[in-house]
Amino acid sequence: MATNLYHLLIDGHTVWVVLAWAVVSSLVRFGTAAARQRLRAPTVLLSMHLITVVLVAAVDASGYDTTGLAVAALAFELLAAVGVAQVLLFWIALPRVGVSVPRIVVDVVTAIASLIALIAVGKRAGFSVTGLITTSAVLTAVLGFAMQDTLGNLMGGLALQMDSSIKVGDWIALGPGQPSGQVTEIRWRYTALETRSWETIIVPNSMLMKGQVVVFGRRQGQPERVRRQIDFHIDFRTPPTEVLDVVRRGIFTDRVPNMASEPAPQVLFLNVRDSYAVYCVRYWLEDIAVDDPTDSEVRVRIYFALLRAGLSMSIPAQTLFVTADTDERRDRKQREEQARRLTAVGKVDLFEPLGPDERVRVAEQLRHTPFAAGEVVCHEGDDDECLYMLVRGEAAVRIGQGPTMREVARLGSGQFFGEMSLMTGEPRSASVVAMTDLDCYLLDKESFRELVRARPALTDRIAELLAARREALASVRGQADEARSKRLETAKQDLLGRIRNFFSLDEKR
Ligand code: CMP
Repeated sequence: MATNLYHLLIDGHTVWVVLAWAVVSSLVRFGTAAARQRLRAPTVLLSMHLITVVLVAAVDASGYDTTGLAVAALAFELLAAVGVAQVLLFWIALPRVGVSVPRIVVDVVTAIASLIALIAVGKRAGFSVTGLITTSAVLTAVLGFAMQDTLGNLMGGLALQMDSSIKVGDWIALGPGQPSGQVTEIRWRYTALETRSWETIIVPNSMLMKGQVVVFGRRQGQPERVRRQIDFHIDFRTPPTEVLDVVRRGIFTDRVPNMASEPAPQVLFLNVRDSYAVYCVRYWLEDIAVDDPTDSEVRVRIYFALLRAGLSMSIPAQTLFVTADTDERRDRKQREEQARRLTAVGKVDLFEPLGPDERVRVAEQLRHTPFAAGEVVCHEGDDDECLYMLVRGEAAVRIGQGPTMREVARLGSGQFFGEMSLMTGEPRSASVVAMTDLDCYLLDKESFRELVRARPALTDRIAELLAARREALASVRGQADEARSKRLETAKQDLLGRIRNFFSLDEKR
């Protein structure tokens, strides 16, 4: 038996296996390092085969039984053949034609081929491995129990490959807040993740099947993106619109590499804390591997944009303001405020005819009313009655809404608005919207009534402006049909009458 087997080995397949190995090992020199590494196991098996063949010959010559050695030689030969075939097919031939087979498929096919080879060897040696497994209930139970986890991992790995829920190259984490890494390979037992800190996490496939997995940057039908958030703190006294504008310009003008343009980055006012206002830049990252470097670049941009605008970042701090509220301090504060209001009065054309005392009286009645860009100062159709004086910024006068909305005029520093409802008692004729941050002062109906009573000439001035504004409104509304000058004069007279009536003024002045 031993001699037959020995001759069978020597005369038969060994030559072919060695030849195949030689061809593959010369081809693999031009292949990848991974392919060369894969040939190591078949090389060792082939060497073991050759050694056992020589041993069979030697032991046979000395007249001892060589059955065991011959079986081992055959097993080594067949396993070496399977290994060589695996390298040739999966690591040389298929990559040449551009087919890449998942690693787990290579592992499973090789494992099955090796098992078949061992069963064949067992048969040759006179015992049936399959019979052993099927007839021995205890062995089957023990094997099944021992392989429970392994089979779970194997099935998990195959399922992951089939449904493509996780692919090589994906960035994943085992649940929110867990360490993350890039999938480098999915094997029959585990999936390997490489982290940014050069660690490799080995995750059993069954864990990936049972637990929640976060796949970063994946969204149906969208390119790969990950949202990042960079917080920064600014003194709470700085107008938020200014901060948002400055940082937006710093980021949008010249886009940071790896920052996606779609979805567009956002600059947001998040919160006000103990001693500072919290803002953030949210942007979408294109290449997940470079998250921290891109964040850093965004922080640099924010820092310099703020610096250029004369703003600086705040650090969290606790400040205790202790102020002695003395009469002197109160007077000083009042004087400063009055000076600010007087400057505002001086900027508004309407108050030009007023003398110094009248200006002081008006200034005392004013209320500082700032608006952020985009805010609506007054709405068309509303019933409130007060006059706004614009001392800084730009506002748009608009009529209509949505697609029918039209702009009637732009108002700038030194102009006033809201006079139409105030003087005629009619609802607001238009909406006034802040195009930039606005510094306005507000005069209420009672204070204005007092002023007009003391200086009836003002009504003339206002009526003239009001008539012109009405005309502009009418022409935008498409109601400009009469001769313009004639209509203006009539309108002015008509308005004067209504204004005087509304404020109960005498005809004589
Ligand atoms: P009022 O109608 O109270 O509220 C809206 C304000 O918009 C209105 O007063 C005017 O002050 C202003 N307004 C309306 N039409 C014009 C215009 N053509 N030019 C400038 N301002 C206008």
